[in-house]
Amino acid sequence: MSAYPVNMSVKPEVTAFFDEDTNTISYVVKDPESNACAVVDSVMDIDYAAGRITFTHADNIIAFIKDNGLKLEWIIETHVHADHLSAAPYIQEKLGGKLGIGSKITVVQDTFGKVFNEGTEFQRDGSQFDRLFEDGDTYQVGYMTCFAIYTPGHTPACMVHVMGDAAFVGDTLFMPDGGSARADFPGGDAGTLYDSIQKLLALPDDMRLFMCHDYGPNGREIKWETTVGEEKKHNIHVGEGKTREDFIKFRTERDAQLDMPRLIIPSLQVNMRAGQVPTDSSGKKMLKVPVNGL
Ligand SMILES: [Fe+2]
Repeated sequence: MSAYPVNMSVKPEVTAFFDEDTNTISYVVKDPESNACAVVDSVMDIDYAAGRITFTHADNIIAFIKDNGLKLEWIIETHVHADHLSAAPYIQEKLGGKLGIGSKITVVQDTFGKVFNEGTEFQRDGSQFDRLFEDGDTYQVGYMTCFAIYTPGHTPACMVHVMGDAAFVGDTLFMPDGGSARADFPGGDAGTLYDSIQKLLALPDDMRLFMCHDYGPNGREIKWETTVGEEKKHNIHVGEGKTREDFIKFRTERDAQLDMPRLIIPSLQVNMRAGQVPTDSSGKKMLKVPVNGL
């Protein structure tokens, strides 16, 4: 049993919002004892070819929160996503709440601040967020005490957020038949990811796990919920009998064959700014493309 403040008797209501364009699942998590809620990993819609940003996905989440009379207390990012844009500031503007991410966001900001040749006006201290979580840090959603587990490997700032008997795993793990996420982004590391997954698998077997992504492997329907026990038994990359060495070898070979995510260039620029679209010197919203820079 870990030293984390696990409380399996608290069972939040979890509502999932699947984004078809990026295969991302966003969540509204409601405290069972009050109307307080949190949003985990929201999505802002982008038509990258047209440079057009819209908010259909976020508006669905906002409507759900309003229709159910909920009070938004936290907007959580499990990490700096490279495959979709966060709608956190848009949701915060409409509903309030505090925006939180892992404290190692500063490492991500440093790395990609250089890649995108950002000037000194781009702060690399995480100050765009309201709260930077360290491993084991707690926060309240209504009466529910939530906590963050530091799970680097996919990126240096990844965290799993646990709320009662539900854990939001970000890209630390996929469904058992999906395995795990890549570990080859700058600051990523396959061995570190394996170690982080072990922290997650040390939680109680009946802890509910909610994925950030699912791609419906082998043509199955999209799914996003499993348990620690299921992952321990059946995960194709880290389940029973798979060693750290096996994982590192497999992950490294596999990652070498993967293309860059379609939306990595806009995603990183926006998400390292807590979901704000950067502006040029005239104040116009503008994205860059670093040539041969990634
Ligand atoms: Fe990710």
